[in-house]
Parts: sequence; C-alpha cells; structure tokens
Amino acid sequence: MNLTIRPIKSAEDGRHIEQIGMAAWGSDGLDAIPGHLSQTIAKENGGVILLAFDGDRPIGFCWGFWAYVESQKRWKCASHMAGVIPEYKGKGLGGKIKWAQRDHSLQKGFDWMTWTYDPLETMNGSLNIRKLGAVSQTYYKNLYGMLDDELNRGIETDRFGVDWWLASDWVQSHADNSRPIPTVASVLADGGLLLNQSRQENGVLTPQAEATPADLAAAPRQVLLQVPRNFQAVKKADLQTGVAWRMHSREMFTAAFDNDYTAIDLIPGETVCHYLFEKNWTPT
Ligand SMILES: CC(C)(COP(=O)(O)OP(=O)(O)OC[C@H]1O[C@@H](n2cnc3c(N)ncnc32)[C@H](O)[C@@H]1OP(=O)(O)O)[C@@H](O)C(=O)NCCC(=O)NCCS
Repeated sequence: MNLTIRPIKSAEDGRHIEQIGMAAWGSDGLDAIPGHLSQTIAKENGGVILLAFDGDRPIGFCWGFWAYVESQKRWKCASHMAGVIPEYKGKGLGGKIKWAQRDHSLQKGFDWMTWTYDPLETMNGSLNIRKLGAVSQTYYKNLYGMLDDELNRGIETDRFGVDWWLASDWVQSHADNSRPIPTVASVLADGGLLLNQSRQENGVLTPQAEATPADLAAAPRQVLLQVPRNFQAVKKADLQTGVAWRMHSREMFTAAFDNDYTAIDLIPGETVCHYLFEKNWTPT
C-alpha cells in the first residue's frame, strides 16, 4: 500500500468522504456526511478531517470538529465518523488514520477526543479500546434511533461514548505497544469476575447471564463481559438473537457504568470477545 494521510483541501475531497462513507456503511447516501459540511468545517471553522489514499485512490477518512463542553469548561475534538472502504477493512488502516488524527489534534493543542461506537461491533472495539487506548464510561441507548444502513438495520443504535486522552501515558503505552496485554485467564487468575457466557443455540451464539446487574455493586476490581466476535453474522442468522444480545449487553454495560466501572480493554477471541472493565479507573 502506498499510503498517505492528509487533511482535506477541496470540494472534491469532501465528495470522496461521501463516497467512502457510503461504501463503508453500505448506505444509499442519505446518512453520508455532505461534502459541503466537510468543507465548511475544514476551511472555515476548525476540526480535523483527514483523508487516506493508496496512491491516488481515496480509501478512508476520519472526521472531527472542535467542540466546547460546557459542563466541563473544556475543549475537545468531537470525532463523528471514521471509515475505510470494505476491501481495506481489518488491515490496520483505521488505526493509522486515528493515530494521525491524534497527532493533528495534539498539534492544535487538543488533548481530549470523543466519539461513539456500537460496542457489539468488536472490530471497532478492538480498534478503539484495545489498539488506541480509548476508554468508555458512558452508554447511550438507541442514540440515533433506527437507521436503515446494512450495519444498523433492525437493531436499536446503542453506543459506547469513548474518551481518548491523547496526551496520557495510558494512550502512549498503546501507541508504542509497551502496555501489558491482559488475557481472560490472567484477569480471572487475579480475581476478576466473568459476568456472562455464550452458548450455541440452534447454531446461533446466544447470551447467558452469569451475574445480575445488582451483583456489580459488590463485584471485584475487574469484570469481563462476553460479546459475539461477529455480531452481524448473529443478526443475519437470527435477528431476535441479535436483539437479545443488544438487550442483555445494554443491561450489563449500563450496570457496570452505574457502578463506576470503565471499559479499558477488549480481549479478542475466535467466537467471542471479552470487554474488560475496571472499577474507579482514571487516566494517567
Ligand atoms: C471501524 C473501521 C474504521 C476500522 O478500520 P480498520 O482498518 O478496519 O481497523 P484496523 O484494521 O486498524 O483495526 C481493527 C482491529 O480489529 C481486529 N479485528 C478484525 N475483526 C475483528 C473482530 N470481528 N473482532 C475483534 N477484532 C477484530 C483486527 O485484527 C485489527 O486489529 P490488529 O491491527 O491488532 O490486527 C472500519 O472497519 C470501518 O470502516 N467500519 C465501518 C464503519 C464504522 O463502523 N465506523 C466506525 C464508527 S464511526
């Protein structure tokens, strides 16, 4: 790959973002970011909108704007979307684009970035939480209402809100791969609690609770929650089981955040992934 990642600079670049968005989400364009909006932010008002090219072919983007958070009296980069075209998915491109977004934001003096993603999309979880070192303490129920693109169709749009503390040691240890990598076995050996299991029912991966939301009030420092590795395949096989995963994980994620846990890692596995939560976690 002959990769370059650079800020957008023309109306044509704005149209590339529309096209990549349609390809990445499998949408008809109604939900794509209009090119004129990208232009307005990048040219006149401030934000970090980057395009990735393989040679001269546009293949990915990230899209964020500067925002003032009244409740915290603090500025941040609100990153609304990142996407790569399907044939480049899962090859490390999304990570490179996000690290470039971090560099650009730090250069402009911003040390905090936020965005949202569906915690049942474990590729996104792997990128956001495991690779980049973003963390989540916030759960939004059905944030965008029902959407009609391929990824979201048929299921309520719950999202993790993530915080990326750009200048923290935590994030730097992800950038330079120096952090210790947890495994399910190591967390359990240290006294961690597994909150649920998955089992095959009629050939479909189905959630099975091992703890109730109330158990989180007296749970150990670290807890694990299983989610399917391929949520889209579960949905395709049986939409009702997909909905059951949404409802089960919504209940447990909400209880974890209500009890001061933070999602700090995602441990990938062959059929399931485990979110790792830690109590009273603060960024270093
Ligand atoms: C989300 C997205 C931007 C990520 O970009 P990407 O180039 O695919 O991501 P990366 O390859 O850098 O990172 C994904 C990681 O997940 C891993 N992964 C792949 N499939 C996985 C799965 N099902 N479960 C867990 N991890 C998975 C990959 O191995 C990779 O990790 P590695 O680099 O350690 O091998 C891209 O997949 C995309 O455009 N998705 C559709 C749009 C979207 O959902 N955007 C995000 C919300 S705004």
